[in-house]
Amino acid sequence: MSIDDTLTSQERLAELDRDQLRQLVGLVEYDAGSDPFPLTGWDAVVWAVGNATQAALFHQVVLGMELVAYSGPETGNRDHHAYVLRSGAVRFVLKGGVDPAGPLLDHHRRHGDGVVDVALEVPDVDRCVAHARAQGATVLEEPHELTDEHGTVRLAAIAAYGETRHTLVDRSRYTGPYLPGYVARTGTRVRAADEPRRLFQALDHVVGNVELGRMDEWVDFYRRVMGFTNMAEFVGEDIATDYSALMSKVVASGNHRVKFPLNEPAIGRKRSQIDEYLDFYTSPGVQHLALATSDILTTVDTLRARGVEFLATPDSYYSDPELRARIGEVRVPIEELRSRGILVDRDEDGYLLQIFTKPLGDRPTLFFEFIERHGSLGFGIGNFKALFEAIEREQAKRGNF
Ligand SMILES: [Fe+2]
Repeated sequence: MSIDDTLTSQERLAELDRDQLRQLVGLVEYDAGSDPFPLTGWDAVVWAVGNATQAALFHQVVLGMELVAYSGPETGNRDHHAYVLRSGAVRFVLKGGVDPAGPLLDHHRRHGDGVVDVALEVPDVDRCVAHARAQGATVLEEPHELTDEHGTVRLAAIAAYGETRHTLVDRSRYTGPYLPGYVARTGTRVRAADEPRRLFQALDHVVGNVELGRMDEWVDFYRRVMGFTNMAEFVGEDIATDYSALMSKVVASGNHRVKFPLNEPAIGRKRSQIDEYLDFYTSPGVQHLALATSDILTTVDTLRARGVEFLATPDSYYSDPELRARIGEVRVPIEELRSRGILVDRDEDGYLLQIFTKPLGDRPTLFFEFIERHGSLGFGIGNFKALFEAIEREQAKRGNF
């Protein structure tokens, strides 16, 4: 079996097979043999939040995730609480500071709630780190091992944009619930009988916002350090509204399992949403996480019933004859999409349905996207303008536009 066919431990646990994964996140064939930085897939998204204990409840009760592991003062970790949550193959680790003088609370003071680590599962940590170092990456943690009664993991970490890092994990010799130092833990929430089993199954892409003029540097970083390729290129005009603009490029791992769109602000008549993010996060960082679902209608209905707010899509979006002609036939009548504010985009490979939440923390920084792919390998470029105009209306309400 080549690396390309390997599922991560989380994907196996979620009982996802290659075909389901291909459908969910849009995988492509590639030559794994010539990959300088082989990776299996996403390992975890690690967050620093202001109140991990409550955020863990939100992720269970509202997002339908399952609590699977925990680390905190009761387990000998006096610095912070950490809750490990799972939905399908998606793993989030929510950390909240306990030690008033600890680094986690410092991070939170600077950035607010945000993603500190986009961890990736790799078959050979040392090979990846050697390649990354040779390409000029900053190695934050040298390869090392952690062991407990469930086995051994080998880990290292490299620096990405802002204070974001990529931990590289080889967990092939480990069977524990997350990492040594964590204990298995389940939540006490009782699921309703008619509740969907899960609202999202896989992580599709993680978007980074970087400073003006630095997008190409980071595109180059992922190409050199991780052997990623440019997936698509949107520049300037494509995603400018009358007022603000941004530039965006997408890099992806060989089989597209891991996709990183990178945005930078562009000069517009007003402050762009990327500028707003950079001001409030106070550095480059993760802007949104796209979560793949095979039934976006149920996902959106369930989340909305639980109080999640989505960006409003202008009604004109659905009545626009140009859009109607472009999207053609999709799996549900367009009225079903209109009533929920779900966006649709089509390219030469197929179509996708997508929707964006409002920022979920106190600062106008991080938000979620839900995406249902039907062959399209894109990111909804046709929706960018309609979407950004909706974001700008929200920005104006906050007085930041
Ligand atoms: Fe996205």
